[in-house]
Amino acid sequence: MKAVVLVGGEGTRLRPLTYALPKPMLPVLNRPFLEHTLASLGKGGVDEAILAAGYLPEAISSYFGDGAGQGVRLTYSVEDSPLGTAGAVKKAERHLDGAFAVFNGDLFADLDLRDMLAFHESRKAKATIAMTWVDNPCPYGCVETGVEGAVRRFIEKPRPEEVTTHWINAGIYILEPEVLEHVPPGTHHMFETGLFPFLIERGETVFGYPLRGYWLDMGTPGKYLRLNCDLLQGRVKSAINGIMDEHAVLLGEGCSIHPSARVEGPVLMGRKCQVSRHAVIKGPAVFGAECYLGEDARVERSVLWQGVKVGAEAGVKECTLGGGVLVRSGDQLTSRAVVSSRVRKGQTRSVSFLSESED
Ligand code: GTP
Repeated sequence: MKAVVLVGGEGTRLRPLTYALPKPMLPVLNRPFLEHTLASLGKGGVDEAILAAGYLPEAISSYFGDGAGQGVRLTYSVEDSPLGTAGAVKKAERHLDGAFAVFNGDLFADLDLRDMLAFHESRKAKATIAMTWVDNPCPYGCVETGVEGAVRRFIEKPRPEEVTTHWINAGIYILEPEVLEHVPPGTHHMFETGLFPFLIERGETVFGYPLRGYWLDMGTPGKYLRLNCDLLQGRVKSAINGIMDEHAVLLGEGCSIHPSARVEGPVLMGRKCQVSRHAVIKGPAVFGAECYLGEDARVERSVLWQGVKVGAEAGVKECTLGGGVLVRSGDQLTSRAVVSSRVRKGQTRSVSFLSESED
């Protein structure tokens, strides 16, 4: 089966992390997020993925190329200006034949794609929409279903008194190619507010497929951090790393940890990191290659990209620090996403975000 992966968004809610890197390239356990998605698609029976890109597409294509080594053949469909979720798939239409899958490129889901395809085929659906259950559906698009999962209605971002279901659109679809006839070419069009409600109105077969496993849209700094932590703590498995051991301390080649330093797992460290005397690392924490922790520095529940330096007696808690960030000696950072001033001059370089439970 083929799949279109939507990787064209600017990721404004993830700024400043997405100034220089598009969302799919943000490191998750030290590998680009998209690499985990592609590995999972490959295992789910996808042999070709069309990447519908727009924002910083070269950052994606220069890393992944034609997909050799990923187990999934890659084709690129690049938009000059954003066409929206359905508009982007319409643009990629010539690469498609037969039923195909669509993935929002910022989702991490424990999905059995083969089972979803069997569900789609058994109901002879024109469109099948994966749904996930959330406590608070108000920020999302709700999907109301009836007999056998037939979709009755979509309710976009309901007010609390309008909530009739906690099942929301999970951003993963299986579609028959003919539904794209209803998407105008070259214009901005969304599945959620355009094509799907239109299909329901016409009485087409649209079904909701309930996901029971892990699902996270990593579109904010808090959720990006949470995804890394959940993977490290073994709450969900990645198609690349498998299930992690929540006590593991995994060190890359050439790391040096001073014997007086305290490292509590789960911790994943890239190559050539240095941890100085009496420094403390309290997992879950990820370190990119060549990070440095000074004496008595402390890092807790954080993700550090490549080449981050944390000065002596500095503290970093619940943060994401972009590549090359320098935390000065004694500074204390909590719940912040920070990138280096070299990434973009004159723009905010650091944002504080809500703690992950509120985010
Ligand atoms: P924010 O700017 O933070 O809202 O993020 P976003 O621009 O990525 O938007 P959103 O999270 O709503 O998008 C959901 C998914 O669809 C993401 O994977 C986006 O990359 C993708 N997406 C959204 N709009 C477009 C588009 O116009 N073209 C393409 N190709 N992908 C899109």
